[in-house]
Amino acid sequence: MTKIIKIDRNKPDVSLIDFAAEVIRKGGLVAFPTETVYGIGANSFDIEAVKKIFIAKGRPQDNPLILHIADIEVVYDLTLHVPEKAKVLMERFWPGPLTLIFKKSDKVPSVNTAGMDTVAIRMPSNKIAHLLIKRAGVPISAPSANVFGKPSPTDASHVIEDLYGKIDVIIDGGKCDVGVESTVLDLTEKVPVILRPGAVTVEMLKGLIGDVLIDPSLLKKPDENIKPKSPGMKYKHYSPNAEVYIVKGDLKKVVKKIQELTEEQLKYGKKVGIMATVQTSTQYKNGEIIVVGDRDKPETIAKNLFEVLREFDRRGVDVVFSESFDYDNIGLAIMNRLEKAAGYKEIIAEGESQ
Ligand code: TXA
Ligand code: MG
Repeated sequence: MTKIIKIDRNKPDVSLIDFAAEVIRKGGLVAFPTETVYGIGANSFDIEAVKKIFIAKGRPQDNPLILHIADIEVVYDLTLHVPEKAKVLMERFWPGPLTLIFKKSDKVPSVNTAGMDTVAIRMPSNKIAHLLIKRAGVPISAPSANVFGKPSPTDASHVIEDLYGKIDVIIDGGKCDVGVESTVLDLTEKVPVILRPGAVTVEMLKGLIGDVLIDPSLLKKPDENIKPKSPGMKYKHYSPNAEVYIVKGDLKKVVKKIQELTEEQLKYGKKVGIMATVQTSTQYKNGEIIVVGDRDKPETIAKNLFEVLREFDRRGVDVVFSESFDYDNIGLAIMNRLEKAAGYKEIIAEGESQ
């Protein structure tokens, strides 16, 4: 049976953390909050435990995991080489929502890395996550704690929905702050490459280490003929049950277009969801209107995005029309997740705006 433990993330009770850390050390699975999304963790050095993660999630074995650590020194154990740029980045952004890819050492069992010669490492800043890793005394391999194909969980209730009965412990530490998964940066190439955008933005990385490339497959439909660098990118992730369409263009035209599309779908007897913002929500009349956040504070949109996608499913909507967002700063992470949720379906709002 799954044990649910509530822990205050601002003042974590160490005896409760120790209980969960013991479960990890004994080869069990523990879901825990991080600042980005919830993870489902196992002792990285326990091959059987790590295998159980893939089974619980229904995740393909060829998709490697991130190793979560609580001390920078551990990086030197898990890797063959730590580039200068990595040192600068770890100093500035750890603990925090940045995952770095290194050449792996023999200490990392290959079940974690899907047989690749690289390893993904991150140091989360959430206090519960940090303490759990410290007290377990081992790196914790953890993918997002959702069933494969579902939006990542940003609240313990989402983890319970997806994984109750399949893992040993779920730590309820409240809602995650960031809401989208960590930025993944590959440091094994001459010029670092962003494999997944997150709250540590392209702009922030460039400001610190100079040239950074963005994997070209990030914002377009994966080409089945091209093998992506990050195996996870080839899967259609984050998809709710409803069909999602992103409506793009000038905001006024977008609102008008969504209104028209909604009326049309309602006529067909469909249940329609609208992903709106603080700035636009009152302009919609019909449909299940949910405010995802404030356009002037895009981090609120990142924080609520996955939860809103799950909420549309809970309400049983058939189709969702979402507004679109700028691609700069955290907008790149938001649009990357939204495009995946939509299976890259978009509608361009044209014509006269009123
Ligand atoms: O914020 C996060 O990163 C969350 C929390 C729990 O830490 N974790 C997370 O893990 O999102 P996951 O497994 O859902 O996503 C990890 C991504 C996948 O796209 C995977 O393909 C990529 O990182 N990845 C892992 N190891 C890699 C490697 N050696 N080379 C390239 N990509 C790698
Ligand atoms: Mg995931």
